[in-house]
Amino acid sequence: MHTPVSGAPAGAGGVAEARGSQSSRGPSHVPAGAGLERIRTVVVHDHDDIARLVAARIAEVVREKQARGERAVLGLATGSTPIGVYRELIRLHREEGLSFRNVVTFNLDEYYPMAPDSIHSYHRYMWENLFAHIDVAPEHVHIPDGTLPRERVEAATAAYEAAIAAAGGIDFQLLGIGKTGHIGFNEPGSGVDSRTRLVHLDAVTRKDAAADFFGEENVPREALTMGVATILGAREIAILATGEHKAGIVRRAVEGEVNIEVAATFLQRHPNTTFYVDDAAAADLTRIATPWLLDEVEWTQDLMIRAVVWLSLTTGKGILKLTQFDYAEHRMSSLVARWGTPGAVNGEVFNLLGAKIRGKSKLPRELKIVCFSPHPDDDVISMGGILYKLVQNANDITVAYMTSGNIAVFDHDVRRFVDFMERLDRERHVGGDSLRAFADRVRTCLHEKKPGDVDIPEVQDIKRVLREAEAVSGIEVMGLGKENARFLNMPFYQTGKVRKDPIGPADVKIVRDLLEELQPDMILVAGDLSDPHGTHRMCKEAIDAALAEIRAAGGKLPEVWLYRGAWQEWPVTEATYLVPMSQEELKIKIQAIFKHQSQKDSAPFPGQDEREFWQRVEQRNKETSATLDRLGLAEYFAMEAYVVA
Ligand code: F6R
Repeated sequence: MHTPVSGAPAGAGGVAEARGSQSSRGPSHVPAGAGLERIRTVVVHDHDDIARLVAARIAEVVREKQARGERAVLGLATGSTPIGVYRELIRLHREEGLSFRNVVTFNLDEYYPMAPDSIHSYHRYMWENLFAHIDVAPEHVHIPDGTLPRERVEAATAAYEAAIAAAGGIDFQLLGIGKTGHIGFNEPGSGVDSRTRLVHLDAVTRKDAAADFFGEENVPREALTMGVATILGAREIAILATGEHKAGIVRRAVEGEVNIEVAATFLQRHPNTTFYVDDAAAADLTRIATPWLLDEVEWTQDLMIRAVVWLSLTTGKGILKLTQFDYAEHRMSSLVARWGTPGAVNGEVFNLLGAKIRGKSKLPRELKIVCFSPHPDDDVISMGGILYKLVQNANDITVAYMTSGNIAVFDHDVRRFVDFMERLDRERHVGGDSLRAFADRVRTCLHEKKPGDVDIPEVQDIKRVLREAEAVSGIEVMGLGKENARFLNMPFYQTGKVRKDPIGPADVKIVRDLLEELQPDMILVAGDLSDPHGTHRMCKEAIDAALAEIRAAGGKLPEVWLYRGAWQEWPVTEATYLVPMSQEELKIKIQAIFKHQSQKDSAPFPGQDEREFWQRVEQRNKETSATLDRLGLAEYFAMEAYVVA
């Protein structure tokens, strides 16, 4: 039904690509538009693969132009997604002699108003992440000016368009995609004819940026952005998306109808656009989520489980009640043909799912276990249920808190604890002059602090210690104590800012040293890739690197269990193990989460979800067990899910 497109980008090894035909000839129950990839889409494993592919293509464009003695005009984006591309371009410049002397750049957008030296400015972002490290001529760099007085904005945006035209138009445009489907800051309602202009930011976009700005109230309400028409004027476009949180909007942009409410859908009308997505962002595409609706498929065990679970949930029938008619109606007859009868498929999948359930008696006993927790609360939020059972099973457990989580503590909590220390000092004489001087300094700094300012070391320490104490209190609920906690304080996190440093050898060494010291049989690792600030992903990167070093040195490798939970949960189809919890056990887990008082009521980095962490956890854990119930398996109160890597 879909035809692969020729001319895949250079070096696209191991890449899954397709562009759907525009015609739908599936049976009527197939959702309209299924399989219609209206933008050429390249699916790769992770963001590093995207960075390599896209940077290689940019290098090709730059070199082709160089060879012809011409300038290459690049349209550039900011945000978290293109960072890897810029890193790779810097590497190509340093190690492979790629020169940017013939390159002219135009950035998509800038907040308004915005001073260029602000930590939030896209000027600063571009210089820090790319321009300062390559040989581009500063006079060739164009970024919308966030400092203009309002009355000069219109003339300046028209001049921006004129400058793009004078440069000969954009040869290669790099784009990210926002959750609203914006490209640049073309929010819902931006027309196909829109040009560079001042726009209002959508509420969803401002919420998304809230963490970076230390609060939604500090996010600018407006921005300067190239228009949809400006973007579509580029000769080649690469749009990038990574992470589970982008999966829904990727599907909408790639498979949905063109609609003014989703600016990225206009790219369907562009003749040379490629959408680069990692596995996580591709997950909702029809060819990944329900490929049997599109074409003949190779029925692997994983695909069979996914398809039968989907069929059961779609028809609202338990797995063991699915009939030949259900399979035929949903283009799954070939699966029945392979197994002989519907009953045989049903039974196989039912048993495979049932075998995933691991109560206390089927969980490890008397082993050495390390639970890696990116922040001091992910342990109880994401694996509180299993932790409790593992303690009861007499395992030797260490909880390793990888970062201090100190940027996520509110200043008012610091003031409260300083007040507490002073009161105690006055009554019990436990601090004296040095405590009073310390308290004065902290109070003064907090008073003078502006949103986004980095805390002084004393305040950073108070916030760290506060979270350490909460972490110990949390695991005490599980039956552990402070002797079971290790605080790794990994250097990559210690910027005092939301944006972290890349994982470096010092981070990897800390993890490796711990693993070599403790020699665990099993480790639990956060496997969610789309936390709002990227810390979970970076922590996993450090653990993976440490394990690779241990493997290379012939050391002992533990079994790795990946958990999720803070932002989303593993689906039952992907989970290797499902760990049931009784009502009492879920209560204990929630009690442990409550111990993280600094994150209660309203956390500084809640993501898009308005609910408190314990509420999300309760809902997700109950949803997992409810799914098993709907599939016709046993009905548990709640469940956590784990993937064994
Ligand atoms: C940035 C821009 C935006 C971002 C989009 C995705 O210059 O124009 O459209 O590309 O908001 O942002 P990230 O990559 O941070 O998810």
